[in-house]
Amino acid sequence: GTPDLHVPRDPRLLRLTGVHPFNSEPPLTALFDEGFLTSPELFYVRNHGPVPQVRDQDIPEWQVRIEGLVENPITLTMRDILEKYDQITAPITLVCAGNRRKEQNTVRKSKGFSWGPAGLSTALFTGPMMADILRSARPLRRAKFVCMEGADKLPNGFYGTSVKLNWAMDRNKGIMLAYKMNGEPLTPDHGRPLRVVVPGQIGGRSVKWLTRLIVTDAPSDNWYHVYDNRVLPTMVSPEMSAQNKNWWTDERYAIYDLNVNSATVYPAHEERLDLTTSGEFYTAKGYAYAGGGRRITRVELSLDKGKSWRLADINYAEDRYREYEGELFGGKVDMWQRETCFCWSFWSLAIPVADLENSDALLLRAMDDAMSVQPRDMYWSVLGMMNNPWFRVTITRDG
Ligand code: MTE
Repeated sequence: GTPDLHVPRDPRLLRLTGVHPFNSEPPLTALFDEGFLTSPELFYVRNHGPVPQVRDQDIPEWQVRIEGLVENPITLTMRDILEKYDQITAPITLVCAGNRRKEQNTVRKSKGFSWGPAGLSTALFTGPMMADILRSARPLRRAKFVCMEGADKLPNGFYGTSVKLNWAMDRNKGIMLAYKMNGEPLTPDHGRPLRVVVPGQIGGRSVKWLTRLIVTDAPSDNWYHVYDNRVLPTMVSPEMSAQNKNWWTDERYAIYDLNVNSATVYPAHEERLDLTTSGEFYTAKGYAYAGGGRRITRVELSLDKGKSWRLADINYAEDRYREYEGELFGGKVDMWQRETCFCWSFWSLAIPVADLENSDALLLRAMDDAMSVQPRDMYWSVLGMMNNPWFRVTITRDG
């Protein structure tokens, strides 16, 4: 039988792997049409194994242990986490490092399953800052990393990974523990009762079903930290990476911040454009995001294979929460540095129908405030992660 009974899932979710574990993305148009926030049932799911089942009555006693290089090791219950720390609510987009991997697998098979461009979702997360929790355990001066561990039992042990301690201690990085999504308790797929949320970094660092924070002087040695979420040099084949473990243990190849990326939602992939009825203009639309709190600063479209580009309008939907004073769902809306972007943004551009009629494909690229721009060429790597070349949609006309 399936170990994931009683998990509320939108039937529109597209399953990307076999029956178990559950990995899925929403249809891109359904995700986009929901708007800025994604409902928990439609939110993309990346599970490495069975979903830990926690009974309602056991949630107040759920425990998180904070240990390792700390002066004051502590065990916190959910009750402590809710009552003893300031609560924050903030909108955050989570993105799987495998978003758009399907395009890599088409060029050359990687070691991962084929995510389309909908391996991302956005919610208002509520809970305490990780900095406040770590501070109460008093990290030692030589401590450099914080390892996080979840309750899901997997073939290679519990799921775990780490981030730098100074990021976790920096409120502007926004790293938090969350127990609510859009004002409702977390659903089982998304970490019920408690997860980490690391804004601006790949989803793999946001450990679900959190049970332990371990302060250390070295990055996590958890199997899922070492053998997942990396971009190895492009010449490393699956065979090479299996023969030589050193490719995996080189921390320089571990992914933290997301890279700049974007996708077109309308026109949809394989949508047939009926240009005869769309009037003088067709409005193309889609999303863009950047990593590390950086803002998307431009989105450009080309109809002539990248020879010339047109500038799209950008809607930074998260900015309306910056102006929000006070509490939301029991947490103070705290957007850290006023300029930090931790969510997807939306772009649109009205294109003269006549121009579309003369083109075969629409190309798309975004740039962030570090002037990083999506590359023309794909950087293939063995795990197929961080795929962000220019997004391409073929133009198919009716009539
Ligand atoms: N945490 C645990 N305990 N187990 C997991 O399998 N998957 C990670 C991360 N945290 C995972 C986890 C990965 S790879 C991603 S992309 C995100 O959770 C996905 O979060 P979501 O399923 O809530 O969208």
